[in-house]
Amino acid sequence: MNETVVVAGAVYDRGRLLAARRSAPPELAGRWELPGGKVEPGESAQEALVRELREELGIETEPLERIAGEWQLRPGLVLHAWTAKLLDGEPRPLQDHDELRWLAPEDADAVDWLPQDRPAVAEAMRILRTL
Ligand code: CDP
Repeated sequence: MNETVVVAGAVYDRGRLLAARRSAPPELAGRWELPGGKVEPGESAQEALVRELREELGIETEPLERIAGEWQLRPGLVLHAWTAKLLDGEPRPLQDHDELRWLAPEDADAVDWLPQDRPAVAEAMRILRTL
């Protein structure tokens, strides 16, 4: 199997989860996601996540644990999610996004999540309540 993994980050800071609104492509614009991107050849999932969050949001993060499960995006492309701690920086939408929000667990449904991200968001909020 030659599947590309998209790694998404459930970024935590001070009891809240970071949500990012996509600005592109047109069919995804306006929907909210856990930010991330494709793992490149030779990279680990954690390395890819740190790189993508730096490129897209200008933040430094530490991946913590894989959220159980994987979600097929299209043939050959599968979504994984990791929790990650914000280490440094204030996230800004540098690429791919036009708005960011920090959500407390009770606000999990306040944004229009991409359907494929919803299971990971639910689990991320469950973990966040235990931290
Ligand atoms: O930036 P890169 O090309 O590495 O990846 P991307 O464009 O951010 O994401 C690749 C694909 O994964 C897109 O089709 C996104 O819609 C999808 N994706 C997703 O469904 N959920 C996420 N949390 C992140 C990406």
